[in-house]
Amino acid sequence: MNAPAQPKAPLFQLRCIACNAVAEEPEQDFRCTACGDLLEIAYPAWKTGVGMRVGGLNATSLQQLWRHRKKSLVPIDQSGVWRFRELLPHFPDEKKIITLREGNTPLYELPGCAAIGGTDRLFAKHQGMNPTGSFKDTGMTVAASAAHAAGFRWVACASTGNTSASMAGYAARGGMRGLVLIPEGKISFGKLSQALDYGALTCQLKTDFDGCLRVLHEVVHRMPVYVLNSTNPYRIEGQKTAAIELLEQLGWEPPDHIIVPGGNLGNSSALGKALVEMKELGFISGLPKLSVIQAEGANALVRTMRETGGEKLISVQADTAATAIRIGSPASWKKAVRVLEATGGTVEQVSEVEIALAKAEIGADGIGCEPASAVTLAGLKKLVKQGFVKSGEMVVLILTGHLLKDPEFTLKFHRGDLFAEGGHEAEARSLKAQQRAPIVLEATADAVVRALRETEGKVDN
Ligand code: F0G
Repeated sequence: MNAPAQPKAPLFQLRCIACNAVAEEPEQDFRCTACGDLLEIAYPAWKTGVGMRVGGLNATSLQQLWRHRKKSLVPIDQSGVWRFRELLPHFPDEKKIITLREGNTPLYELPGCAAIGGTDRLFAKHQGMNPTGSFKDTGMTVAASAAHAAGFRWVACASTGNTSASMAGYAARGGMRGLVLIPEGKISFGKLSQALDYGALTCQLKTDFDGCLRVLHEVVHRMPVYVLNSTNPYRIEGQKTAAIELLEQLGWEPPDHIIVPGGNLGNSSALGKALVEMKELGFISGLPKLSVIQAEGANALVRTMRETGGEKLISVQADTAATAIRIGSPASWKKAVRVLEATGGTVEQVSEVEIALAKAEIGADGIGCEPASAVTLAGLKKLVKQGFVKSGEMVVLILTGHLLKDPEFTLKFHRGDLFAEGGHEAEARSLKAQQRAPIVLEATADAVVRALRETEGKVDN
């Protein structure tokens, strides 16, 4: 007797992380209509474990296919996100995909930082090398394409700067309008200028990031705009590819540790989701520990883990000069807690001075990044001291934004102005050795040669 025909599993579905309810038609704010929690994308058609198959292909065939696409001239094959499209939501009409050839970011060794940090094998996956200068592009290409495919005219986000820059760029490429809500005076000029150049309607609100997000959620209930914050689960899917690309760059040998900055906690959730899926699909046999580092002044996840064991969110009034992560009530905290539990990672917080120092140290390795990215190195130093990271282990820092995103921070640091007021003066004295303020000289070779000799003398001594 023939077995009854099995109903075909859907290629992907939106599922609540708390009550597992499947959202057929998600609300504008991507919250579960049954319980109000966040949604995530699940792939019921994947066959995991022994004999895994995705779309009929096993891990080795997928690895070959992805490598092969690197030589292709087709735009979505050249994207470091869509190259891995078997592990992303399926788009029946590929013409609706908006791509700026995101992803494809380098993995650099950091020899100077390794010596300072006390680890032998230290790498940086530089997501600041994306088209708009931050990791947001990898998620934005997927979520903006979903908006485009659904026929939205307006897309919107609340942002500390990078999401808005990225969203504005992808909206423009897709012929959509972008609505940006940012905290007035609390985002860097580099990011603000990007949103303007890409033609977004940019609203500076007299509140912080958390306030902007609240206003946005009211707006989307009143106007047909599509939210592109990381509560949108399509963003998370795209951001997964940084971890997949990293594993490919390491020959599918996972590192021991991945260290990531934490703000709204979408990125740690995405990277962790990718790692868990890669293990379930048999690409890797063990999971790297994924640890999240926050600024002391914006330490909601650190407090949530330490004071409630990850049970209940502790919101904080956020303040840090690393404006990208100036977030007090992270939306994806539950997803991040799950990742910490699944991978055995930890949380740590770092001071303003520790962030500034680490940023200069990464710069001195010829890489450079924005302040929020530098929390990773500052955190690593602490994790090594605590013995959580051992000196022989391989560590990858996720650098999330480009050095040129926030030149004002860098200039203030080198001129010695960053901590001129605000209570960090004593601790900041230790930074003198890293500071390289520009010097104003007479326009003569003599003056320049003298400066050169003086500097050489200082280096020799
Ligand atoms: N690093 C940079 C450079 C960022 O811009 C952000 C977040 C983070 C780290 C933290 O990532 O939120 O996924 O935990 N920036 C957002 C924005 C919030 O609006 O640009 P997260």
